[in-house]
Amino acid sequence: MTNYIEETTKYLKEKGFDNPEIGIILGTGLGQLLNEISILKEVSYNHIPYFPTATVEFHKGKLIYGELAGKKVVVMQGRFHLYEGYSLQDITYPVRIMKRLGIKTLLVSNAAGAINLNYNKGELMLIEDHINLQGSSPLAFKGIEELGTRFVDMSAPYNNDINQRFLHIAKENGITLHKGVYVSVVGPQLETRAEYRMLKLIGADAVGMSTVPEVIVANHLNLKVAAVSVLTDECDPDHLEPVDIADIIANAAKAEPNMITLFKALIKLI
Ligand code: HPA
Repeated sequence: MTNYIEETTKYLKEKGFDNPEIGIILGTGLGQLLNEISILKEVSYNHIPYFPTATVEFHKGKLIYGELAGKKVVVMQGRFHLYEGYSLQDITYPVRIMKRLGIKTLLVSNAAGAINLNYNKGELMLIEDHINLQGSSPLAFKGIEELGTRFVDMSAPYNNDINQRFLHIAKENGITLHKGVYVSVVGPQLETRAEYRMLKLIGADAVGMSTVPEVIVANHLNLKVAAVSVLTDECDPDHLEPVDIADIIANAAKAEPNMITLFKALIKLI
């Protein structure tokens, strides 16, 4: 994999992706952050050597380089999911590339269902810890030693300094920012009532289909990591309504301005 990483990095450097400090993965509900960025370069994933091949759904995926709040950032507009048929190594390849381009910090956003019923849809949750229920690890492959240690410490995968700043910014701006544990599942089907009950029992506050692989690899690479979920639906097994994906996307959009406020203010402080 090291040769591929070198080649991809070389391509992007030649395109002008010059020493970004911060990497951002935009999940559902944070696309508008791009309007705040002065974009210097952008490349479709399809054109980047060794990037996972885009599915039809994903033809819009782009890697963007620009400036936000005075910092050089590299932004993934659209991420890869296990449920689209990618491997965990594919999903996390862009994180390895952003690290090689120079980032020190990775900020991640996603949409998630609220398992903790004190949390409401349309609100935000800072991820303090996670549970990996995707059945494997992005580090479980032959040749991982070429890229670093195999047995990565996960005692504090989310950076406490950044989290404290996020909480402070939220308070100053009157934004509700819950804290909690995110559990990642494969999807794409939503959960059964029995599964929501189980996820609550094992300690999850929110459930989604992304983020954990990227965070594991970011820890492998010693990046500082923080992640925020937009809560898009309430996962109450005793009153479960059929999920409406349009509704999920609408709720993500509702929370988007708050997410943008948090990210912008944080990036200014980093
Ligand atoms: N489950 C899994 N993933 C999700 C959900 C959910 O309820 N809501 C948004 N992403």
